[in-house]
Amino acid sequence: MKHALVQKDAVPGISPEIYSPRDFAAVSEIVYSRVGIVLAEGKALLVYSRLAPRVRETGAVTFANYVELLRDDEVELNRALASLTTNHTFFYREAHHFEHFEEHTRPNLIANLNRRVPVRMWSAGCSSGEEVYSLIMTMLGTDRIAGQSIARGDLKVLASDIAPHALAKAEAAVYEAKDLKPVPNELREAWTSKAGDEVTISPVARSLVRFRSLNLLGDWPMAGKFDVIFCRNVMIYFDQPTKERLISRFLDALKPDGLLYIGHSERVTGPAADRVQLVGPTVYRRRLP
Ligand SMILES: C[S@@+](CC[C@H](N)C(=O)[O-])C[C@H]1O[C@@H](n2cnc3c(N)ncnc32)[C@H](O)[C@@H]1O
Repeated sequence: MKHALVQKDAVPGISPEIYSPRDFAAVSEIVYSRVGIVLAEGKALLVYSRLAPRVRETGAVTFANYVELLRDDEVELNRALASLTTNHTFFYREAHHFEHFEEHTRPNLIANLNRRVPVRMWSAGCSSGEEVYSLIMTMLGTDRIAGQSIARGDLKVLASDIAPHALAKAEAAVYEAKDLKPVPNELREAWTSKAGDEVTISPVARSLVRFRSLNLLGDWPMAGKFDVIFCRNVMIYFDQPTKERLISRFLDALKPDGLLYIGHSERVTGPAADRVQLVGPTVYRRRLP
């Protein structure tokens, strides 16, 4: 992605000696090439406000120096990339997906567990964990005894992201009570405990998930295939070629009739479109080969 230097990328009130359109273009190119996020024109102020604290803390003084530092220092680069991610998420986001999962997907997965067939799910771009815990609670269901028996099956859930601060919150599994409001009461009662204004996800639900730092553009070390992949509101930050490549990789990572849930504004397009069948609102089943 080549970024044109445009006047719009100048930030009013900031000296171009500290932060110039050229610096913005350099940061955009690094971010795009490493993690696929497109920082379009108009994001110059966002980049400034997210990275200015790092420029100060590292003593770089100017963004031009900071860009040089990013080229040499992998640790600082990862910090910069993490601070440029958007981690907005919430429990039961796009409730229709959890309804679809409960009605159409969960019964088959439970039947598989009962036949001792492993069940694997992946929340790709999990941010601070609200998505994966919503999915796990839905999988376990409203009956605690039945849910515990489901959890004793060969059921594992991967949740991955590139933002360490988001992963740390996910792993801690403690949220403000108001954050859990979108979750249906019976699921919340079965799989969380409340103390004051804090809610903790139950040990049973937590025991099923492994959080991993993983760049979706890099290598994926997972050997096995997935029954279900949720990758929602992640690809909106990517350009079309990156989305198409990623969707093909997700399909390769799914079992032959596995399901891909993507965000409501996203679509499977390009060569991958022939490999899927739309089975719900932005829910795609990998076609049997
Ligand atoms: C807006 S959140 C979406 C969270 C959740 N899936 C949802 O729908 O609510 C997008 C997440 O994608 C992550 N992300 C962005 N680019 C990524 C990449 N190349 N590899 C892995 N995660 C990435 C960000 O760190 C962020 O936490």
